[in-house]
Amino acid sequence: MSDSVIGQPFTRIDGKWKVTGRAKYGVDYYFDRLVYGVGVASTIGNGRVGGIDAAEAEKMPGVLAILHHGNIEHLYHPANQFEDQSRPGESRPPFEDDRVYYYGQFVALVIAETFEQALDAASHVRVDYEAKPPVVRLDRAAQPTGEPQAHQARGDAESGFQQAPVKLDVTYVTPVETHNPMEMHATIAVWDKAKQKYTLYETSQGVVNHRNVASQVLGVPMESVEVISRFIGSGFGCKLFPWPHSWLAAIGSRHLERPVKVSVPRTLMFTTVGHRPTIEQHVRLGATQDGKLLATINEVRQSTSFIDAYLEDCVDPTSMLYSCPNVKGTQREIRMNTGTPTPMRGPGRTPSLFALESAMDELAVKLNLDPIDVRLRNYADKDEGSGKPWSSKRLREAYQMGAERFGWKRRNPKVGSMRKGDEILGWGMATMTWPGHRQEAEVHVRLLADGTARASCATQDIGTGTYTIFAEVVSDRTGIPVDKIQVVLGDTSLPPGPTSGGSFTTATVIPAIYQASDKAVNAVLKAAAKYQGFSGADPKSLKMTQGRVHPQDKPPSSGVPFQEILQSQNLVGLDGKVKTGPTDEMKKYSIHSFGAHFCEVAWDPEILRLRVSRWLSVVDGGRMMNAKTARNQILGAVVMGIGMGMLEETVYDTRTGHPINNNFADYMVAVNADVPELECIFLDYPDPVLNEYGARGIGEIGLTGCASALTMATYHATGVRIRELPIRIEKLMAGSVKEEN
Ligand code: MOS
Repeated sequence: MSDSVIGQPFTRIDGKWKVTGRAKYGVDYYFDRLVYGVGVASTIGNGRVGGIDAAEAEKMPGVLAILHHGNIEHLYHPANQFEDQSRPGESRPPFEDDRVYYYGQFVALVIAETFEQALDAASHVRVDYEAKPPVVRLDRAAQPTGEPQAHQARGDAESGFQQAPVKLDVTYVTPVETHNPMEMHATIAVWDKAKQKYTLYETSQGVVNHRNVASQVLGVPMESVEVISRFIGSGFGCKLFPWPHSWLAAIGSRHLERPVKVSVPRTLMFTTVGHRPTIEQHVRLGATQDGKLLATINEVRQSTSFIDAYLEDCVDPTSMLYSCPNVKGTQREIRMNTGTPTPMRGPGRTPSLFALESAMDELAVKLNLDPIDVRLRNYADKDEGSGKPWSSKRLREAYQMGAERFGWKRRNPKVGSMRKGDEILGWGMATMTWPGHRQEAEVHVRLLADGTARASCATQDIGTGTYTIFAEVVSDRTGIPVDKIQVVLGDTSLPPGPTSGGSFTTATVIPAIYQASDKAVNAVLKAAAKYQGFSGADPKSLKMTQGRVHPQDKPPSSGVPFQEILQSQNLVGLDGKVKTGPTDEMKKYSIHSFGAHFCEVAWDPEILRLRVSRWLSVVDGGRMMNAKTARNQILGAVVMGIGMGMLEETVYDTRTGHPINNNFADYMVAVNADVPELECIFLDYPDPVLNEYGARGIGEIGLTGCASALTMATYHATGVRIRELPIRIEKLMAGSVKEEN
């Protein structure tokens, strides 16, 4: 496969469309008679709407309609079935009743001829509230009762812990974080009365899911909704499942019989389109004096809204990551007055690994052992949670290669011992892990008489490189150059494809593209048997390489370009259409990616400055489909990890439930000044189980482990152990006066 395009550092095929402005994002569409909807959002965090007085606003220039719970047309509750690609972000239809569950919940929508008119009128809608105190902190919420929502158990964890000679008993907290993609949520809804059909122009990580939920909420057949999302300015999870503004746009459009655009402003991106829940993890590790785990216990409490159950599993890694005879993990949801949480890059495992990997470091410190050594002493040679063998696991090699490249053996474990000029260096490391999945996908490949190919599927490219992966696989199977392959994605009128989430899109679409390409090639070979040059030949004796059809036993140069065969028979193109899904073989294995982060922080105690000065990630993520887009995923995740570790936290005013840092000035994400040169190595061992190339997907794994590597490095430099993210200078100042550990 040496001349294969697979794995080459191809630039994204959509890159030039984006930088030249040719790529049309959801809000870039324009329609005749387009009107604008602006939401009125609740200014209380709990209670009910007493009354809405829209009289003044209704008379304002350009105002066409003001929708609220008193006049909204009927909307239905969606079925909420993730497996069937019909999961909403928030299941409550907007304006269903007068209840207010969270600050920033839509309570009315003003539609006007211009955006400015709608914005102005929205500020003149008078809403009376009956407010009750909101709950926006885990420690002030009603404690959950009954069975935990997630559970892991083997052996006897409680007595294993009691009997262990070495015990660690600590609690870790991760705050609410907000996704903040550059492209904000927005919908343009176009109702076609003649066809009785809605077309929704969206920014969606799952157009098929969005379409399915839309048909349920709006109460129309699936065929009556088309969802289009050709380009997405990233999502990080908050665009996986649809949110209320989309239904408001649709209803508005049907009501007025005009296209309606509803944008979610940045402030409401913090309330009504999901967030990472706050999660508290009470971790207890029991171990022998030489660091072998005897018991691992993680008791987890996480927030969700009063509207929806929402769980992100933090106890699965508790069970599978290390070898340990006695394990217990329980996880419970706690209701708060926020919008419904939603997956944010690496859901479950990212917070889980902050706790588990921090605890492993605290154990290493306690036992005076090297942190990598402690991990190797508890290396899991199979998945002890499921009992299944790994499909492929090279974590040991990731630790070793990382340690070598980072220079780990030069690390002096003594706190504050590694000086460089005015700064004290701290070194940290952590494991990363993320499961490999595969869903269903249908792909259509057409080889065309002009020598090009076209591949289409309703999956979408959220900025990760899916367009490019499609072109690469078609090119690899047909020999048609990448620049002659057109890829069409992000429209529910195309063959159904997966949601772009869970890092499973690449692994999911590869088999369908691969097999559809082969099927199209076979159709060409069959046609070739009627072509004069090969007349009478058995199609099986022919093959297609470098876009040329030739006898198996002769070089490509002896054959003819495939398009000549199509042209000679007056065919516009020949098709391969294939649907693929998970296999039985997959069920025999535990399929996960692994890796290790190594980082260095520099602490200047004179000016209380903590900065990240070095980062290395070694990733065992199966075969890399594209060296450039793969690297981009890991680097992007580490930038996000620096944000998670040092900056990100959504802060609520406990009196009102208002997220007070609801903007880019106050909610800080890592920027260039926070990020050093990042290095990333892929081990590139194909996974033999998941698909034809052995790719496992790498969208989320890079974020797992980042925060614990950072807090560990921070401890090493400062002696302060941060168990509640983010690391803040105030916490380091407070901690530096009292000795920890
Ligand atoms: Mo990912 S949080 O499934 O977009």
